[in-house]
Amino acid sequence: MEEELIAIIPAAGKGTRLKPLTDFIPKELLILGDKPILGHILETLKPVPSIKRACLVVGHKKSTIIDYVKDGSQFDLEVDYVYQSERKGLGHAIYITRNKVPDNKPLFVYLGDTIIYPPQEIIEMIRTYYELKKPFALIMVEEVEDPERYGVVKVEKMNGHLKITDMYEKPTDPSLKKEYMNENGKWLAIAGAYIIRNRIYDYLENTPPGKGGEIQLTDALKNAVKEGERVFAYVLKGTRLDIGTVQSYIEAQKWWINNLLKVMENK
Ligand code: G1P
Repeated sequence: MEEELIAIIPAAGKGTRLKPLTDFIPKELLILGDKPILGHILETLKPVPSIKRACLVVGHKKSTIIDYVKDGSQFDLEVDYVYQSERKGLGHAIYITRNKVPDNKPLFVYLGDTIIYPPQEIIEMIRTYYELKKPFALIMVEEVEDPERYGVVKVEKMNGHLKITDMYEKPTDPSLKKEYMNENGKWLAIAGAYIIRNRIYDYLENTPPGKGGEIQLTDALKNAVKEGERVFAYVLKGTRLDIGTVQSYIEAQKWWINNLLKVMENK
């Protein structure tokens, strides 16, 4: 039987790469098609049977986010919040949710500037997690050519799955490619969704600041791999909309509007 996963959604960033759009609106509330980005994220969790609770990490313009999501009931979710007062990185944002998550529950970390579509993709990822007999982590990845924007993973094939043997946050040294390149000559980038066991909090506690002086989730996961924890990659088959920059936001707008028009035409 599938146990409950607690969704953790970091949504505290300042959205610096989206300025001036984010001067008045947090990036998670920028409109995409017919609703805010965060609305789309929470909607994709609605059809997932094992996710009924979510914890949002808020900071920049937190009250507008709380005003919109409230207790989560409009998304069939029970939503709780933690406040990140200092920008100490993604790893820190996850760490401060530790008192909100019951000890035995795995986390479904879903980055607040990423939409995974369709929701079936998340259901399939959770199914794979059980097929792998609940490893320490299963990380959604996607092939990219510009690794400097992402965390990247090194993998080896194991019984039809991809086992992660090393990871690196935003590599700038192209010579790493020899080690990390897959058979298509591409890098495998962390795509913004992770299933992670609760023990990640212990690893995060012992993770020093890394890239950009911030506590990186990638570094904590890398330490877990080094300690012999089983960590796997799940290759995204659907679409990932990334709202990190003005350009990616405009591309996501185009994609979403086309998708919305198709859905409306078929009604
Ligand atoms: C974060 C993670 C990175 C991941 C990326 C996906 O980076 O640290 O490993 O590849 O999200 O969007 P950020 O975009 O917050 O700089």
